[in-house]
Amino acid sequence: MKFQLSTIEAYNEAYALSLENPSLFWSTIAEHYVWQKKWDTVLEWNFDEPRVEWFKGAKLNITENCIDRHIAERGDQTALIWEPNDPQAAYKKFTYRQLLREVSIMANVLKSIGVQKGDRVCIYMPMIPELAFAVLACARIGAIHSVVFAGFSASSIADRINDSSCAFVITTDGMYRGAKQMPVKSVVDEAVVHCPSVQKIAVINHLNWPTDMQSGRDIWYHEAASHVADSCPAEPMDAEDPLFILYTSGSTGKPKGVVHTCGGYMVYAGYSFANVFQYRDKEVFWCTADIGWVTGHSYILYGPLLNGATTMMFEGIPTYPDAGRFWQVIDKHHVNVFYTAPTAIRSLMASGIDHVLPYNLHSLRVLGSVGEPINEEAWQWYHTHIGKERCPVVDTWWQTETGGIMISALAGITPLKPAHAGLPLPGIQPILVDAEGKEIVGNDVEGYLCIRHPWPSILRTTYGDHERCRINYFATYKQLYFTGDGARRDADGHYRIIGRVDDVINVSGHRFGTAEIENAINQNKAVIESAVVGYPHDIKGQGIYAYVILADHREASDAMRDAIIETLVEQIGRIAKPDKIQFVSGLPKTRSGKIMRRILRKVAEGEFQSLGDTTTLLDPLIVEEIKAGAL
Ligand code: WTA
Repeated sequence: MKFQLSTIEAYNEAYALSLENPSLFWSTIAEHYVWQKKWDTVLEWNFDEPRVEWFKGAKLNITENCIDRHIAERGDQTALIWEPNDPQAAYKKFTYRQLLREVSIMANVLKSIGVQKGDRVCIYMPMIPELAFAVLACARIGAIHSVVFAGFSASSIADRINDSSCAFVITTDGMYRGAKQMPVKSVVDEAVVHCPSVQKIAVINHLNWPTDMQSGRDIWYHEAASHVADSCPAEPMDAEDPLFILYTSGSTGKPKGVVHTCGGYMVYAGYSFANVFQYRDKEVFWCTADIGWVTGHSYILYGPLLNGATTMMFEGIPTYPDAGRFWQVIDKHHVNVFYTAPTAIRSLMASGIDHVLPYNLHSLRVLGSVGEPINEEAWQWYHTHIGKERCPVVDTWWQTETGGIMISALAGITPLKPAHAGLPLPGIQPILVDAEGKEIVGNDVEGYLCIRHPWPSILRTTYGDHERCRINYFATYKQLYFTGDGARRDADGHYRIIGRVDDVINVSGHRFGTAEIENAINQNKAVIESAVVGYPHDIKGQGIYAYVILADHREASDAMRDAIIETLVEQIGRIAKPDKIQFVSGLPKTRSGKIMRRILRKVAEGEFQSLGDTTTLLDPLIVEEIKAGAL
C-alpha cells in the first residue's frame, strides 16, 4: 500500500483495510518514517479511561524525520520561505541544510539556559523564522513546546504558563501587525509576574527595540547563539512521550492543554498532509494560519517538513498593505498549494475582485479551507476567482484535539462538493449519534459527530487533568470520542459540518467558550452578570453577542461598552473583542437559576418570533425587555 494515494480505487482500498485491520494499516504507514527503534505493539487502547498508546516501545525524534532524513536527497532544496510583513522588505529562504543548522543552534541555546527533556517551554512570538526554529528545537531536545498565539493577553499567557508550569519562555522584543508595531516582551514581563515557575526568558531581537532585560533571567538570543555549536544530536523519544501542549477552549472552565505525543502525531501529520493536498515534490505550500494554532503546527511545520516539502510562513495580515496581499504573495513565490480560512476568504471577497485581478495565480494547483464551515458563496468565489475553476478546493474538517485533518476530499481524487468536508481519511471512523448516543445509520441524516476508533494523533490527555479529558471527550457517549460538532451525512455519504453543538463559539476560526468570555467580562467591577452567545456574522462566521447586567449605579453608555471591551482584551486578548454588547436589567432564567441560552441565541440572531416556551421563566417579562433592546 502506497503512502500517498493517487486514485479513488487506492483510497477505497486503503479505507477498507483501515477498517478491517487498523493496526496493520497504521503500522504499514508508520514504516514510511525513520525510527531509532521499532514498536513492540502498534496500538493499545480503551476509551473508558481513556488510554491510547500508539507504537509503544518505539523510539524516534520527529525532527530527524522533518529535517535530517532529507539532507542527503534535498539538502539544498528550500525547506522554509519566510515572507515578511512589509512587502518591500527582504524575504528569506532556508534550505533543509540551513534549517538543520538553525534548529541545532536554537536547541543548543535552549540547552545552555538549562532546558532539559520533558521541560515545558512557552513560545510567545510573531510569525518569524525563529518561531519555527524554536518549535523544532524543543522537539529536537525533547522539551515540550507550548506555543501561545501572539494575540493573547498577559493574563492568558500567565494562565497557560502556570497550567503546565513552564520554566522557560521564548519571545521577541516586539512585532509588526500591518502598519503597526506592537510590544511582545513587555507583555511577557507582565505575565510572568504571576508565574513563579519561569526561570529564563530568551528574547529574539526582531525590531531592534530598547527592551528591559532582567539580569539573571533574560537573555538575548543572538548573543547566546554566537557561543554554541551548530549541530545538536536529536534526543531519542518514546513514541508516547509528549511532543507539545496546545491550549484550546472548551464549553466549560479555562482553556485546556491538549497533549499530543511524538510517534502518533508524526505518523498522522505527515500522512494527512501528503494525501489531502496530494503534495508533489518541489511544490511550494502555503498555509496562512499562525503557528500559534494547531493548523500552523501541523500544516506549516510538521506535515510539510515530514514530506520534504517547501513550506511558507507569512508574517503579515491579508489586508496589508491592501486586500491583494495574499494574491501578490502567491504570484511572487509561485505558490502551488494554498490553505486558508473561510473568514479570510469572506473578507477578501468583500473587498472586491479588483484586488484579485492584477495577479495571474497561474502557479496554484490546490486550494484548501479550514477552521469553520465554509458557506457555499465563499466556496464558489474561492473556486472561481482564485482557483480559476481548475483547482480543487478541499474543505478540511479537524480540531486541535485530532492533531490532523479528519474529514476532507483528497485533492483531485475523491469527489468535491461545495461546503462539504466530504469523506473521512483512511483510518478515521466517523459516526453520527442522537442525543442518547444511539447510532444514526444510513444516509441523508444529521446528528452529533463522534469518532469510533482511535487514530494515531488523537489527543492523549489534557495537561495535568486527565479526568477533564475523559469528561470532555469520552464521557458524553460511551466508547466514542465526541467532537462537539453537529454534522449531516448526505445521500452519498459525504459529511457536512454544521457547527458546534456545545457552548463553544467559533469567531473567525478562533475557538472561545462562552463561559470563558463571560468570566472575563465579569472581571469588570461595573458588571454584575453576563451571558454570551454566538450569532451568524457575514465575515467572521460567528460574532460574539454579550448581554450584560451592570451594577445599580452604573449607566449604560458607550464609555461603559468600551470599558467592557477593554476588560476582554486584557483578560483574553485582542482576538476576543465582542461584536455586540447589550445592557439588560436581567437574564432569562429558569426557576432553578439556569440561563435559557436558547432565548438569548434567538434574539441575537434577530429571530423574535420562535422563542419557544417562556412560561417556565422566573421573570417572563425580561424577554420583552431583551427583545426591545436587541442590537
Ligand atoms: C470547526 C481547527 C466546519 C469545528 C483545525 C471544530 C470546521 C473546530 C472545519 C475546531 C471545517 C474546523 N468545517 N467546521 N472544515 N474545520 N471546524 O481546534 O467546529 O481551532 O470543532 O481546530 O473548528 O477548531 P480548532
